[in-house]
Amino acid sequence: MILPSLLSAVCLSYSTPFVIPAETVNTLTEQISITREELLQQLVPFAQSLARPLISNYRVGVALLGKSGAIYLGVNLEFPGMPLNQTIHAEQFGVACARQHGETSLIAMAGSAAPCGHCRQFLNEVDDEGTLQIYVANTEGRTLPSLLPAAFGPKNLGLQDKFMIPLSLPSHPASLEERARIAALSSHAPYTLAKSGVALETEDGKVYTGSYLENAAFNPSLSPLHTALIALVADGQSYTSIQRAVLCEQRGAKISHEAVSCELLKQIAPGASFAKTMAIPEGTR
Ligand code: THU
Ligand code: ZN
Repeated sequence: MILPSLLSAVCLSYSTPFVIPAETVNTLTEQISITREELLQQLVPFAQSLARPLISNYRVGVALLGKSGAIYLGVNLEFPGMPLNQTIHAEQFGVACARQHGETSLIAMAGSAAPCGHCRQFLNEVDDEGTLQIYVANTEGRTLPSLLPAAFGPKNLGLQDKFMIPLSLPSHPASLEERARIAALSSHAPYTLAKSGVALETEDGKVYTGSYLENAAFNPSLSPLHTALIALVADGQSYTSIQRAVLCEQRGAKISHEAVSCELLKQIAPGASFAKTMAIPEGTR
């Protein structure tokens, strides 16, 4: 058992404590002779310390191992003033963070509590092979099919688009509007075909982008503002550091994130500006 404080110190020494590169994971596991799965479980209390549960004060933390060998942390984010369904669960955070860093497959996840039904449904979209090993409170690994038997999923809707895809990235310095458009192209939106993306600019000039991530059961979907906020929190920024937000949506789409995203932004970053563009042409697949 490593001292938790030592582990937190190692993580906090990176610019981004939510992402532990594969080389560091290898060094840590070799030096202290533990498996990657044991390391995942030992990172959970540190992940919990990074949660932002501004309503419940109930901290959830997860650690996810990607196919690349890197580890991603996830935490719950709650937004006072908003309906509870705007909450981001730690499991959703960890998965979105791994996807944003180019992971195309996940191997294992450890968490401070068993994933709730909503998270099992969210994970069902991601873990299409049913191979993800899930560790809860230091118990043996279990697979999603054992935690979510008789699952409802993409196949019920006649679809099986892959959730963990390599992302489109800007090839040159791009405006905030263009960054939001490129993020929209990496959406997982097979149910509405409404690709959408958000780009947030903070006061130090940094940009965080997020893509819309849909779920076959609809409600566990993450809006593009949610995933952009995940990128921002994973980089240790405060919500009030957001100065500008751009939402890019698709022309002729059946749904829009505009009203809810504008309201959420108003609650967490009252000083930020909000703009919408419709730079994705109708019919873009
Ligand atoms: N929570 C998670 O983050 N994951 C779960 O699967 C269980 C619930 C969060 C959501 C909310 O912020 C708080 O825990 C209380 O439900
Ligand atoms: Zn959950």
